[in-house]
Amino acid sequence: KKVVLAYSGGLDTSIILKWLQDEYNCEVVTFTADIGQGEEVEPAREKALKLGIKPENIFIEDLREEFVRDYVFPMFRANAIYEGEYLLGTSIARPLIAKRQIEIAKLTGADAVSHGATGKGNDQVRFELGYLALNPDITIIAPWREWDLNSREKLLKFAEAHGIPIEKHGKKSPYSMDANLLHISYEGGILEDPMNEPEEDMWRWTVSPENAPDKPEYITITYKNGDPVALNGKELTPAQMLTELNEYGKKHGIGRLDIVENRYVGMKSRGCYETPGGTIMLKAHRAIESITLDREEAHLKDELMPRYAKLIYNGFWFSPEREMLQAAIDKTQENVNGDVRLKLYKGNVIVVGRQSPNTLFNSEFCTFEEDSVYNQKDAEGFIRLNALRFIIEGHAR
Ligand code: ARG
Ligand code: SIN
Repeated sequence: KKVVLAYSGGLDTSIILKWLQDEYNCEVVTFTADIGQGEEVEPAREKALKLGIKPENIFIEDLREEFVRDYVFPMFRANAIYEGEYLLGTSIARPLIAKRQIEIAKLTGADAVSHGATGKGNDQVRFELGYLALNPDITIIAPWREWDLNSREKLLKFAEAHGIPIEKHGKKSPYSMDANLLHISYEGGILEDPMNEPEEDMWRWTVSPENAPDKPEYITITYKNGDPVALNGKELTPAQMLTELNEYGKKHGIGRLDIVENRYVGMKSRGCYETPGGTIMLKAHRAIESITLDREEAHLKDELMPRYAKLIYNGFWFSPEREMLQAAIDKTQENVNGDVRLKLYKGNVIVVGRQSPNTLFNSEFCTFEEDSVYNQKDAEGFIRLNALRFIIEGHAR
C-alpha cells in the first residue's frame, strides 16, 4: 500500500503522516504545494525526511501560476460569489490540490490518497469529489473521520510519543485558518459565537480601513477575454497580477468579510475572510463587463452565477455541469476587453472609469442632449404594447 498525503508540514499533517505509517502500515508520499499561502514550503522536505519519508517520495511544487490561471481566473469570469458574500477562496483551491495528488499517485504507483480535513466540513467533500472524479478507483483515507485523536490533548500526546516536533515558540493561532493567493480564512475559537467581533489582531493580510491611508490611490486594470492582463499598463502573469492586487488591497484595507455561511454538510458556520486582490478584481470585472456584454447575455450570466458558485462551494469543480456552465461563461468573455480605472480608498473599491475597443456604450443613443439616431416617438408603441395586457385586464375587471 502506498498513499499520497496532502502535507503542509504542520503539526496536524505530520501526525497524519506518522499515523498512516503506523496504523495503515503504508509507504507515504508527501505532496506540498505553494499556492501562495505565504509560508515557506521547503521546510516540509526536512520534516518529511525526519519522519522517514524517502527523498523520491517528497513532492514540493510551486502551483501559484496554475492556481490563478486555471482556477481563480475562470471563476472570476463568472463573478462567482457564494451566498452573496463569500469569494470562495478556499473552495477554489481544493480541486487543484486534489488533481495534483491524483497525478502524483499515478507517477509513484500509489493506490491511495489522504488529506487533513475534518469530517465536519466542506473541504473533505471538495478533496474527495475531486479524487473520485479524476480516478474512480482511488482509495481515500480521511484520518480525522477514523482515528480517536479527537482532542488537542490526544493529538499532542500522539506527537510526543512518536517524536514529532511540536513548535513551542511563537503563539499558535487560536483559529482554524486556510490561506492561498486568493484569500486567508479564519474559523473557530471566539468566532464560534457569531455575536463576537474578531480582535483587530486576527486579521493578517489587510490593514483596517480606519488605519488605511487618508489619500486615495488610482489603479488601471486591463482586461483581455475577461481576464486581467496588465496593471497600470504593465503586463503581468496571473499570479503576479493577484500578488500585486493583494498589495494594493492590503494597503487600503480592502476585502475583509465576516459572515455566517451554510456548509454543504448541513450546519451553519461563522467565518472571517480577507480577499484583498479578489475584491478589487470582482469590482473591476463587473465594470468592464458593463460596457462589453449584451444586456440579455449579462442578465442570464448573472442568473447562472449563484448556481456556478454553489457548484464550486460544494466541491463540484470537476463535474459535467460546472464544465458546461464554464463553456457558456467563457463564450461571453470574447469581447470583455479594455481598461478599468479604480480608486482605492479606506476599504472601498470605487470604479471611476472604463473603456473598451469592443464597447457597446454609445452616447449618441443615451445622450440627454439633442440627438438624431433615437426616435422618441418609437417608445410610445413600445410602451403601449407592453401595457396591452394591463389595458385588456383593466377593462375586463
Ligand atoms: N468556510 C470556508 C469554505 O468552506 C473556509 C474553509 C477553510 N478551511 C480550513 N481548512 N480552514 O470554503
Ligand atoms: C475542516 O473541517 O477541515 C475545515 C472546515 C471546512 O472544511 O469547512
